[in-house]
Amino acid sequence: MTDTLPFEFFFSPEFSADPYAVYAGLRAKGPVHPIDFPPGATSFVVVDYEYARPALNDPRLSKNLANGPEWFRDAISQQNPVLADNMLMADPPDHTRLRRLVQKAFTPRRIEELRPRVQQITDELIDAFSGDRIELIDAFAFPLPIIVICELLGIPDADRADFRRWSGALVNPAVTEELAAQRDEAGTALRAYFTGLIAERRATPTDDLVGALVTSTELSEQELLSTLALLLIAGHETTVNLIGNGMLALLRNRDQLDLLRAEPELLPNAVEEFLRYDAPVERGTFRTALEDLEIAGTHIPKGSFVHVSIGAAGRDPRAFERADTLDIERSDNRHVAFGHGIHFCLGAPLARMEGQIAFGSLLGRLPNIALGCEEKELSWRFSGSILRSLSALPVTI
Ligand code: HEM
Repeated sequence: MTDTLPFEFFFSPEFSADPYAVYAGLRAKGPVHPIDFPPGATSFVVVDYEYARPALNDPRLSKNLANGPEWFRDAISQQNPVLADNMLMADPPDHTRLRRLVQKAFTPRRIEELRPRVQQITDELIDAFSGDRIELIDAFAFPLPIIVICELLGIPDADRADFRRWSGALVNPAVTEELAAQRDEAGTALRAYFTGLIAERRATPTDDLVGALVTSTELSEQELLSTLALLLIAGHETTVNLIGNGMLALLRNRDQLDLLRAEPELLPNAVEEFLRYDAPVERGTFRTALEDLEIAGTHIPKGSFVHVSIGAAGRDPRAFERADTLDIERSDNRHVAFGHGIHFCLGAPLARMEGQIAFGSLLGRLPNIALGCEEKELSWRFSGSILRSLSALPVTI
């Protein structure tokens, strides 16, 4: 264990530029480190795969917002009521009930049925590329998952731009007053939108996921709103990073790009490697200790916030050989990019399918794709968020 790390540490552009070097430094000192997060309150960060994976599925570590420290409850429930009452913020039995209601729509078989439509959306986005320079996040990595999740939720095309703005404001940590105001406004707008959509669907029932949710008697109104918001936000703010970070990794490792283009049957394996190598939810996920406990010999007092670093776990050399090397042929890739245990990502089959189609189509159709800027011009959005999101990825085609 090390001295307490300052809160600002995880929230700086320098950290975002290369979190993996920082994680390696921390790992060398120990698997668990206290952080002054937020200032004045101590939390702990777990950086070793060996302890991170079980922590994600430890019933003594609660996801229930009601158990969280007061500052976290306030941050989510006052500023962001729309995010508070869903499966990601619940323990069993609420978690089981909330997840079961949505699960049916996300089985690998149901998701496979969407494959032709996802391919069609992908093709249309690539058809629309014009000129020899493209900003890949804006032109492709963002629209693909947002179109897919909006179609799945039955949200009309015309409303998508609002959704992108609102969900961006909601995942951006409100570290300034301006960002906090944007986040409040987005939460209110999203809530009003979904309230309208629910009323509409109740008046004219539909035979889809939202139709089933609005007629369920097992959900409160607040849980229904929050579940829709979770699906919308989790459904695209993450997948955009799978596509962006994975493509950047390929452009930096041309041998891997050439190999994937030559052997497209490697696509499913390659997507798993992109998830491990530069995880979309790199900074990880939080839980609250329900009792005094120990992780790797570190005492974690009851009520502490435990931050499991997914990015650090994915680069742990004790868990992955040549952990800092991108290897799309890697076998036994037991990454935790989708979490582990009862909260394992519900959308994983969808994200994997979108990723496979996206990379296959981009490499297949853009034989000359190359990085269109200097390395030093690349920057990361939301330096304080749990997400690892490129601000832009200029490419030449
Ligand atoms: C949960 C990552 C895409 C919906 C999670 C968790 C992670 C994750 C790490 C677990 C968080 C925790 O344990 O605290 C990702 C990544 C994605 C992705 C890396 C893309 C590459 C999606 C998509 C959807 C989705 C496309 C849905 C449309 C969810 C939901 C949960 C979840 C509903 C909560 C599950 C629960 O609490 O039981 N995701 N996700 N995700 N994800 Fe994803």
